[in-house]
Amino acid sequence: MQLDLDFVRSNFPAFSSPINDGQSFFENAGGSFACRQTIDALTEYYTDLKVQPYGEFESSRRGGELMDRSRERWAEALGVDAREVVFGPSTTANTYVLAHAFADVLGPGHEVIVTNQDHEANTGAIRRAAERVGCEVKEWRIDPDTGLLDVADFEALLSERTGLVTVPHASNIIGSENDVTRITHLAHAVGARVIVDGVSFAPHSLPDVGAIGADVYLFSLYKTYSVHQGLMVVRAGLMAELPNQSHFFNDSVADKRLNPAGPDHAQVASAGAVLDYVEALHQHHGGSVTDDLRTAVAHASMLWRAHEDSLTPQLLAALADRDDVRLLGPASLDAAAGHRCPTVAFSPLAHDPEHVAHALVERGVQTSSGHYYAARVLDGLGVDPDRGVVRLSFVHYTSPDDVERAVTALGEALR
Ligand SMILES: Cc1ncc(COP(=O)(O)O)c(C=O)c1O
Repeated sequence: MQLDLDFVRSNFPAFSSPINDGQSFFENAGGSFACRQTIDALTEYYTDLKVQPYGEFESSRRGGELMDRSRERWAEALGVDAREVVFGPSTTANTYVLAHAFADVLGPGHEVIVTNQDHEANTGAIRRAAERVGCEVKEWRIDPDTGLLDVADFEALLSERTGLVTVPHASNIIGSENDVTRITHLAHAVGARVIVDGVSFAPHSLPDVGAIGADVYLFSLYKTYSVHQGLMVVRAGLMAELPNQSHFFNDSVADKRLNPAGPDHAQVASAGAVLDYVEALHQHHGGSVTDDLRTAVAHASMLWRAHEDSLTPQLLAALADRDDVRLLGPASLDAAAGHRCPTVAFSPLAHDPEHVAHALVERGVQTSSGHYYAARVLDGLGVDPDRGVVRLSFVHYTSPDDVERAVTALGEALR
């Protein structure tokens, strides 16, 4: 069954807001529009429940109940236990806390493998913490032409000394998916822990984190139609091993020990509402109301992917066919390295990226330019991070007309 785009878009108020009239949104990798369910949940919280949660009076009790519900719903959606779900201010904040925690369990004699395909959030703090405690930091490098990571290179870096591996599920520049299940399996075989950054993957397909098997899986809810929070799954074995990063009396409180910032009550309570949208989508496309949430999530993700895959080739072709543009990442959906998400970055060779982005915006294509905090990726590709690139990123609510608009605008902007 095909995705019913009218149904999808009717769940996103941004599409009927005058501020977006006559424009197409291609800055989704920076942050997606929020679905109606998310907005309603936040409005309810700020209207009725904006008090200290978990107390005895009704508004306080209900606030706490909604916070617990978000955690339980996300755990079910991701195939993990509720005690393994941590909400933090952002993925950057979550990896920063993780880096500090890992610094207490790693030391001289350990090696840490990082990549140069990561957004800085999944690499910078870990590199610094590892170096501070005397670990050797090894970099798994992308191919300078394709931007892809080759698992054979990873295997060559792995050793009995490897204590930790950080890797992106999909890069926010290259777009193609890394086989994180296999990477995790290889790392676990030598006793290493694995952190997977799913920020650029989850908006396109909500992962079965339990099946992937990584010790940590991170993504940003504000890019998955939800609130501005980072969601981090820390599997139970590692959770028990990492030292508490919160107040001493929170040591045994699973959802607090790795969030020293303290929870943002309203956002945590509203974080699960996007899953109501996912269920509605599942049921609208033939799913049963009695299906479990994991089934609904898998079905919705399949619909999202099929829709995105029907549009991505047109955008890729519009860039790959030009000799005045360097398309970054694979030019087709199914590169040998893995399926490609519709996060499409390019370096215009004859024009300044900032000017191209400006020309696109003038033509109703909401986008931008820059290094997108992926300076190491651009450097690895031989692209000057200060000059930056232009990125067009879309998701399941993007229409064929949106892509048509982007392709036409590209032709004009690059002239
Ligand atoms: C791939 C990737 N990882 C991590 C991050 C950081 O996420 P946050 O903004 O939640 O800190 C981003 C943000 O753009 C990203 O694209």
